[in-house]
Amino acid sequence: MKFKGWAYIYTIGCQMNVYDSAKLLSVLKFLGYSETKSLEEADIVVCNTCTIRHKAQEKAYSFLGRLSKLKKKKPHLISVIAGCVAQQDGEKSLKRLPEIDIVLGTQSFSRFAELIDQVKSGRSNIVDIEPRETIFEVMPDASDVNQNEISRFVTIMQGCENFCTYCVVPYVRGKEKSRRPEAIIEEIEQLCKYGIQEVTLLGQNVNSYGIKENDISFAKLLKRVSSIDSMKRIRFATSHPKDLSDELIYAIRDLEKVCFHLHLPVQSGSDRILKRMNRGYTQKTYLEMITKLKKECPNIAISTDLITGFPSETREEFQETLNLMKAVEFDSVYAFSYSDRPITPAMKFDGKIDEAEKLSRLNELFELQKFYTEKNNKKLIGKIEPVLVEGKSKKKMKVEGEPVKEFQNIINTTQMMGRTESNKIVHFQGCNIRPGMVIDVRIENAYPHSLWGIV
Ligand code: SAH
Ligand code: SF4
Ligand code: F3S
Repeated sequence: MKFKGWAYIYTIGCQMNVYDSAKLLSVLKFLGYSETKSLEEADIVVCNTCTIRHKAQEKAYSFLGRLSKLKKKKPHLISVIAGCVAQQDGEKSLKRLPEIDIVLGTQSFSRFAELIDQVKSGRSNIVDIEPRETIFEVMPDASDVNQNEISRFVTIMQGCENFCTYCVVPYVRGKEKSRRPEAIIEEIEQLCKYGIQEVTLLGQNVNSYGIKENDISFAKLLKRVSSIDSMKRIRFATSHPKDLSDELIYAIRDLEKVCFHLHLPVQSGSDRILKRMNRGYTQKTYLEMITKLKKECPNIAISTDLITGFPSETREEFQETLNLMKAVEFDSVYAFSYSDRPITPAMKFDGKIDEAEKLSRLNELFELQKFYTEKNNKKLIGKIEPVLVEGKSKKKMKVEGEPVKEFQNIINTTQMMGRTESNKIVHFQGCNIRPGMVIDVRIENAYPHSLWGIV
């Protein structure tokens, strides 16, 4: 294909958006574009957006503001807003940014090539946010995999129908639909051919994979992916606690390639708040799941998502969240202060908490979690951990393992980094080690954000 120009893709948001950007890039490559990392050089710019919280949405519009200025200097530049903000705002995004050529919704990727053609023949301000069920027609191109890449995301489901009251995802990502297992396996086999060693299967609620379609369960899908010889490690996200099955717990326990790590977002420790969030479980049932998980899969790493300052959350209810954190001792926590989102039911809830209070609860929560992250990391000291090597360390530590300062820059070309099954970053000293190898590392020291080991 003749070279048609440079394409720049800016991605905001979750892992699914990273996957979606790879899809968009494969369309652009098919049309003759090559990827550039320089915005100034680009002939087409795509901003793949997220609207989960207000801040993410504003990040998108602020980038697009920069893009508008660039377009004034370079009129042939094609500008695209794609993804969740595009889906949410549609025509409205044109009011904020009249220079945009294409507003591409989350289910419109199969029309991307055609819309670019239309822009080339003189159209602008095209909005396509039709809900469609065919989003799996476009696949990322596995030949994109670069030499140093060892891990990739593969989306196995679209949409969400859980309607947690604070969340925009069901409105911007559409109905839940599972992808056919054959297509998933084919894509993973392709990735393996290009040297990928680890795959993360993505869906908003992977536990309900295949249910609507009456297809195989998620646990059975994991088994099929496990049988691909050259795939070394399998991860997945996200599991919804209301649908965590025994079958899945046993699959994590029994399938060697499935990592001993579960991301199980709890959001709150208070039953009243969980009910108001429409989460479908209680503190007690969540803790029972954790007990069962820890019994069947000893030493499994568990991470979660939490929201502070949900409308009407009292100090006492927030304290219940802290108590739950103490009971579970999570390995890591992703926490956010509640953000009002358009269309969601929680937007109309009474008892909104003021910003400063939401943030103060958030900081308190992070302070507590620091203790448990470090405690869990320290449990690994002296243990031999299989580590999937990712490449050279960017953050250098001192050879003996005791860092002068954790991220001090000491030039040492043999220092590498990788991840344990529990998804913890390990920096280690080693020779003749290449990215993609799984090697045994003895953990010598533990810090809040990483481990140090020797081969
Ligand atoms: N499907 C996943 C979550 C996807 S969104 C699940 O159910 O767990 C990722 C996280 O963003 C959520 O777990 C939640 O903690 C957070 N989040 C979603 N909406 C939010 C909002 N309005 N304000 C603050 N955090 C939010
Ligand atoms: Fe949002 Fe809830 Fe769906 Fe997760 S399960 S994407 S939090 S609605
Ligand atoms: Fe954001 Fe859309 Fe993902 S709102 S979190 S990019 S599904």
